[in-house]
Amino acid sequence: MKYALVTGCDHGVGLALVQSLVARGYTVAACRLDESEKQLDRLAEEHTGKIRIFQVDIGQDESVKALAEQVSATFPHLDLLINNAGILGEMEDGPDAELNFDLMQRVFNVNALGTLRVTTALLPLLREGEGKTVVNISSEAGSIADCWRTGWFGYCMSKAANNMQGTLIHNTLQKEGGQVIQIHPGHVATYMRGHLDTTAAISPDISAEGILRVALDEIRPVRERPYYLDYQGAELPW
Ligand SMILES: NC(=O)c1ccc[n+]([C@@H]2O[C@H](COP(=O)([O-])OP(=O)(O)OC[C@H]3O[C@@H](n4cnc5c(N)ncnc54)[C@H](OP(=O)(O)O)[C@@H]3O)[C@@H](O)[C@H]2O)c1
Repeated sequence: MKYALVTGCDHGVGLALVQSLVARGYTVAACRLDESEKQLDRLAEEHTGKIRIFQVDIGQDESVKALAEQVSATFPHLDLLINNAGILGEMEDGPDAELNFDLMQRVFNVNALGTLRVTTALLPLLREGEGKTVVNISSEAGSIADCWRTGWFGYCMSKAANNMQGTLIHNTLQKEGGQVIQIHPGHVATYMRGHLDTTAAISPDISAEGILRVALDEIRPVRERPYYLDYQGAELPW
């Protein structure tokens, strides 16, 4: 049996990832922050026993600790961990704007520290599995080498930090037969901006399929340094 855990699954890319993983034969620990939305419950009802739903706030130490305990009591191991949960923060800021540092700290706490919290809490369970693969849903916005923006400080900085924490974890995991892959999911039509992003190029389903193809199907030798790829497998500059 193959086991995966995905964060941020109540909608968007996370929900589509759960659906695609189940179609690939995985049993999935599907994590969500907000329990009010019911799409994930309906999906779990359609696939009895294949989806276990957990509540977690990846911004909180105790919540992530409790998640790790619950998942360890339910799953014998994890083969794949997908850190998908993330928040946008203020998109329109810039050097001349009044900057919202409280909001930036929240974005950093979720996107960068939250990802690290989840990975380190679940590392013992991941080490018991075959794949030992961590996929961090990063963003092209985290690329320093290719940065063209003048603002959106919290998100861009948090995704660059996400890339760094992923690299630090990879440097341990690749010596143990695993790896970390940083993936940009594409510009996806989700509600991340508070409304459906109709300017987006692709659907969550196409993004999720691409992410899993890149992470699971395409054979790339595990490298000393991690891959930073988009959902179509193209390398991004760090
Ligand atoms: N959409 C794009 O074009 C795009 C582009 C590049 C990268 N990404 C990345 O792709 C990932 C998925 O985004 P999406 O577009 O699918 O947006 P989304 O639908 O808003 O998904 C984000 C998920 O993260 C969850 N989340 C937020 N804060 C959390 C917390 N503290 N603890 C646990 N879960 C939390 C959200 O839960 P609630 O909604 O219930 O709060 C939601 O389920 C994110 O990491 C994002 O940065 C997206």
